[in-house]
Amino acid sequence: MVTVVIGTQWGDEGKGKIIDTLAGQHDIVARYQGGANAGHTVVYNNQKFVFHLVPSGILHRHVVGILGNGVVIDPASFFQELTELEKQGIDFSKRLFVAENAHITLPYHKILDQIEDEKRGSEKLGTTGRGIGTTYTDKYGRIGIRVSDFINESVFFNKLRIALGLKNYLFQKYYKESVFSVEKLADEYSRYRKRFQELAKDVSFYLNKAIDDGRKVLAEGAQGTFLDIDFGTYPFVTASNPVSGGACTGLGIGPKKITKVIGVAKAYTTRVGMGPFPTEIKDDLNEKLRTAGNEFGATTGRPRRCGWFDSVIVRYAAILNGIDELIITKLDVLSGLKTIKIGIRYVYNNQILEKYPLDTETFENVKVEYEEMKGWNENINRVSRYKELPELARKYIDRIEELVGTKITTVSVGSAREQIIYR
Ligand code: IMP
Repeated sequence: MVTVVIGTQWGDEGKGKIIDTLAGQHDIVARYQGGANAGHTVVYNNQKFVFHLVPSGILHRHVVGILGNGVVIDPASFFQELTELEKQGIDFSKRLFVAENAHITLPYHKILDQIEDEKRGSEKLGTTGRGIGTTYTDKYGRIGIRVSDFINESVFFNKLRIALGLKNYLFQKYYKESVFSVEKLADEYSRYRKRFQELAKDVSFYLNKAIDDGRKVLAEGAQGTFLDIDFGTYPFVTASNPVSGGACTGLGIGPKKITKVIGVAKAYTTRVGMGPFPTEIKDDLNEKLRTAGNEFGATTGRPRRCGWFDSVIVRYAAILNGIDELIITKLDVLSGLKTIKIGIRYVYNNQILEKYPLDTETFENVKVEYEEMKGWNENINRVSRYKELPELARKYIDRIEELVGTKITTVSVGSAREQIIYR
């Protein structure tokens, strides 16, 4: 059995907490794309755990964590994260594996990412600067370095020599930056080799066998549907496929192995970085929501842009990902608002669009039609039964369900594991 959990907006939907909650009923939690650009915060026993690469389900002692081949791994960031989590009492022995065919991010990827975004000037994407796009570029350009290459000292040295031959040329000739020494970088990174040797696996083979043996797998997507390289608001996207289909290629499992797809949507919308955002709130309420929802990036600390729930994009995400059920997070953040708006329709050139347009120019220029609903005043952080939610909050959930066309099974009302309501 494989359940895929994906974000239905621009990431930061609160998937980390949902994965942590669902992981209790799974044996394996596997990340299938993205890299250290992701950030999940999970609060458990009043302790805050921050995840970037490690699947957040690992907090459950019985869970095996996997980084699939679709993930790009920055060894420096990964091992620092492991050290921090170990300090917080998490034991990874024999329950964390990394795909030997996953690509690794090296310092030059990060520098190039930052230079490239800066050189775009006013057209910059606002990447996280973590070398994500540049690592995937090298993967497809076939000068990437995989975990299996990295753990073999001479192969790594040779591949690094080839890659740096090219990168140093760019640094020197075009970017007027200092160059990297192959020897120095190879030497500096040799400290990560042993640990990678212990963790590396043919993850696809392992997962397929585990699935055949009846073990339950939770496939964890990072970022969200509209940051998808193919279906998102290109070029304001990340460089991988967060959509559910990415789980197959990013873990090496066949599509028929996937039994369920769960979508996660925030009760409003946020976006970090540049790019179109039709339901963005342009007045003081933006700031209010940001403060109430603590909407600052877990990776970069950047303030997130806030807006109303956009049912047009989430409905598209439901279709695109084949969502079986939807989970709504952060409903509590909306408490106290007099009115709550939901984006229900796009109009472009005086015509109603029947769906989210893939063309970014169109998307940038749509006008959103809203529906207004009455808000509720009650604090709902401690509500644990659905029927105890204020009637107006339930009405809001009903309306989203209707507009998106997907069953809402769960509502989250706070960051702690127990602040969750099953419907
Ligand atoms: P990159 O993934 O660093 O290349 O950044 C590309 C775009 O994706 C930027 O707008 C980032 O802000 C956004 N992004 C990347 N990772 C996340 C995430 O985990 N949550 C939200 N936005 C993200």
